[in-house]
Amino acid sequence: MKVLVATQKPFAPVAVEGIREVLTAAGHDMVLLEKYTDTEQLLDAVSDVAAVIVRSDKVDARVLDAARNLQIVVRAGAGYDNVDLAAATAHNVCVENTPGQNSNAVAELVFGMTVMAVRNMYDGTSGTELRGKRLGIHAFGQVGRNVARIAKGFEMQVCALDPYCPYQVMEEAGVAPIHDIRELYSENKFVSLHIPATDETRRSVGYDLVTLMPKGGVLINTARKEVIDEEGLARALRERTDLKYVADVKPDNADELEKEFPGRVFFTPKKMGAQTAEANINAGLAAARQIVEFFATGAAPYRVNK
Ligand code: 3PG
Repeated sequence: MKVLVATQKPFAPVAVEGIREVLTAAGHDMVLLEKYTDTEQLLDAVSDVAAVIVRSDKVDARVLDAARNLQIVVRAGAGYDNVDLAAATAHNVCVENTPGQNSNAVAELVFGMTVMAVRNMYDGTSGTELRGKRLGIHAFGQVGRNVARIAKGFEMQVCALDPYCPYQVMEEAGVAPIHDIRELYSENKFVSLHIPATDETRRSVGYDLVTLMPKGGVLINTARKEVIDEEGLARALRERTDLKYVADVKPDNADELEKEFPGRVFFTPKKMGAQTAEANINAGLAAARQIVEFFATGAAPYRVNK
């Protein structure tokens, strides 16, 4: 079968080679489309392939229409808000993700950005430490769990809110379960977002929650920009001059925020959370193996569409 790896933001070369080896060993052919700048290039590349591996690349109805032989899309990563699941189902295309494969990379970046925030963006002034401080994890999935593990090394006090996660999982990780979202924000100086972008979560974190944060609060977003109510956040930062916002997912109003709140906001130039060789290898190879398994047996253990 012909398998396309379509990544606007490329994997590390070592991961691409690994993907190629896995696919070739199983008798498949890999085609690579990296750093494309135009959707037309993707539409062209998908026209004769049976499988596609993507990252945050948009797979919408147009792409699915153009992909006449497509049977499976694997999102090499966790969030699949870039794939139109209903359209995939309508086209009889299976969609899988690779949960957990890049989560350590994202979790490490949470602390990279958090330390930067409490050291005043490394501007030479005296900052603060994380030890003994309270961290609230908003959603206790794979990334949230890795964040909790690393936070323990910093000797932080960790709690989490996640209505979809059994309390037992949190307790076994030494994390205090929180039941009320307002409590998550009011009790924790640091809040790290790990909610997916869904109809339920879009624009769900804004003025009301952010202004509950204790003095000197830092909101860390390595999830999706869509979960933030950007105007509400800007208003909160305006009124609460002690708050900071660091994000791996640049908001649409990034330029305004950077101008209005210098030293209090930071945005990576592009989404960097999963941009490590290890995460690329883990997620990329998992995606390739899932495709091999799908064509060999029909199994799709991480299917996310119905
Ligand atoms: C994910 O959902 O897996 C992460 O946000 C990483 O996305 P990326 O593969 O586009 O870097």
